[in-house]
Amino acid sequence: MLELLVDTDTGSDDAVALLLAALDDRVELTAVTTVAGNVPLPRATRNALLALELAGAGSVPVYQGCDRPVLRPLHTAQVVHGDDGMGDLGLADPLGSARPGHAVDVLLERARERPGELTLVTLGPLTNIAAALLRDRALLTRFRHVYCMIGAPDAVGNVSATAEFNAWADPEAAQIVAAAATPELVTWIGWDVSRQDAVMSPADQDRLRGLGTPLAEFTQGINRKVAEWSAAVTGLDGYDLPDPVAMAVVLRPELVAEAERAHVRVALGDEARGQTMTDRRLDAPPANLTLVRRVRERGFKDLLFDTLAKTLEPQP
Ligand code: RIB
Ligand code: CA
Repeated sequence: MLELLVDTDTGSDDAVALLLAALDDRVELTAVTTVAGNVPLPRATRNALLALELAGAGSVPVYQGCDRPVLRPLHTAQVVHGDDGMGDLGLADPLGSARPGHAVDVLLERARERPGELTLVTLGPLTNIAAALLRDRALLTRFRHVYCMIGAPDAVGNVSATAEFNAWADPEAAQIVAAAATPELVTWIGWDVSRQDAVMSPADQDRLRGLGTPLAEFTQGINRKVAEWSAAVTGLDGYDLPDPVAMAVVLRPELVAEAERAHVRVALGDEARGQTMTDRRLDAPPANLTLVRRVRERGFKDLLFDTLAKTLEPQP
């Protein structure tokens, strides 16, 4: 059983990643922590609760974390995901609410209680993880593995010319994590993977609509704003799913088609803010990260469609 702790800034793609985790029989989703990013913290928390309840996982505890980056003001991605982060569909509020306690304390406590047993998956800016690291420099070593959807090793950005949003939103946090990482422990799945191997083309969207399930309708609906943003900004052939493809790597490591170990720093200067600086020199410092570079698209989409085709028994 894969025991996950997921940290998320729950926008529309995070929500689909939470569905993949919550509906996988091989996974125990032990807790979800939320962080400001795509949307302000209260909305990220609301959206996480909504996605978990839709997956019949309303009992998974959700804990709120940091409401702004380590140093910089919060810049959200509501222009991408919609004001509510979920396509502005007017979804009803969740039934549940966040548990008492701060996400950073939960990260520290769970890692200490279960050394080497939990897998940490991050889907947003790394603010919570960095804050926890500053209190426990050995934090990352206490997880079985740490997977982060973050970065753009090919320097093709989505929030700027060269930076991916999670790294750009809180570059200091991303650098704090990168500096504490080792490639054996920490894997980054960048936006290059999503852009190349996780775009929901018009044919994919037709197939999704054809499933006719609540999960498929939810996924298509909450990503409608991302589809508009893709058409206007990135030029992709549909909406892409960065967090779900990162989650697919966690759930099905065999889907990784290409990966490398490299030394990575995250740029802090304003011009290159959040850029993933991958050092290719022969005398580069030792690698600190494993970077997934390509994922088997068909395998990812099979997992996605199989999950969204599920119909759930009404909750008692
Ligand atoms: O750049 C893509 C990442 O930024 C995804 O995690 C998306 O949800 C946003 O947080
Ligand atoms: Ca996210």
